[in-house]
Amino acid sequence: MAEIPLVEMRGISKSFGAIKALQRVDLELNHGEVLGLVGDNAAGKSTLVKILSGVYAPDQGEIFIQGQRVEFASPADSRSLGIEMIYQDLAIVPNLSIAGNIFLGREPVKSFLGIKILDKRKMIEQSRQAIERLDVDIRSTKLSSAGLSGGQQQAVAVGRAIFFNPRVVIMDEPTAALSVKGIKKVLELVRELKERDISIILISHRLPNVFAVTDRIIILRTGKRVGERITKDTTPQEIIDLMVGMD
Ligand SMILES: Nc1ncnc2c1ncn2[C@@H]1O[C@H](COP(=O)(O)OP(=O)(O)O)[C@@H](O)[C@H]1O
Ligand SMILES: [Mg+2]
Repeated sequence: MAEIPLVEMRGISKSFGAIKALQRVDLELNHGEVLGLVGDNAAGKSTLVKILSGVYAPDQGEIFIQGQRVEFASPADSRSLGIEMIYQDLAIVPNLSIAGNIFLGREPVKSFLGIKILDKRKMIEQSRQAIERLDVDIRSTKLSSAGLSGGQQQAVAVGRAIFFNPRVVIMDEPTAALSVKGIKKVLELVRELKERDISIILISHRLPNVFAVTDRIIILRTGKRVGERITKDTTPQEIIDLMVGMD
């Protein structure tokens, strides 16, 4: 019997007004797999992963995590099931501390006289644990991120990605171009996450990168899934033909 996929999206449709962003799209992600999601601009890639990360609700379709039907009312619901979205520019905010960078956008809060305030002590302690797991030499997560070397910045980005022990990491490529160095970091991060048995969905229009790190590729065209290929059994030309509809 085939293994139950870690994530299964079935028959997902989503419209924005008159725009049919997704029409009955299926996506399955297996344990430990790196899945490439490709397609031309406006093919529906970001919409699909935003549905998986709880940003949008689908108009139709179902999501299963390890065979269990789930519904996400918010990104927090998706994250609590181990699905983490990370940003491919791996941006480090230089004038924030390392701890601040790891928690960016999801800082722990505590109540103080009925007001929610940042729980700095928790942030520093937890981010120290995250960095320790990475086996990298950073003296204190209270330090500013400005003076970090490339390798240390990479460690902070990894720390951010693995902090909540995700089972799935989604990487949607930034609209602005990444530098060559930035691209290299993303590919290294994919490999590091894979080594930690984290499944990955990588959205990228750079086919050489998709071919370098993925196991399988799903191709979307104008909101529809038009193909799926095992990476080692296909060619960039075949993927491009599927993306633009020359088949
Ligand atoms: N929030 C939104 N409001 C209106 N239209 C949207 C929204 N998000 C996406 N779309 C439209 O849905 C289609 C798919 O977009 P998107 O998923 O971002 O494609 P991709 O990531 O493949 O470039 C596009 O036509 C886009 O303009
Ligand atoms: Mg997009």
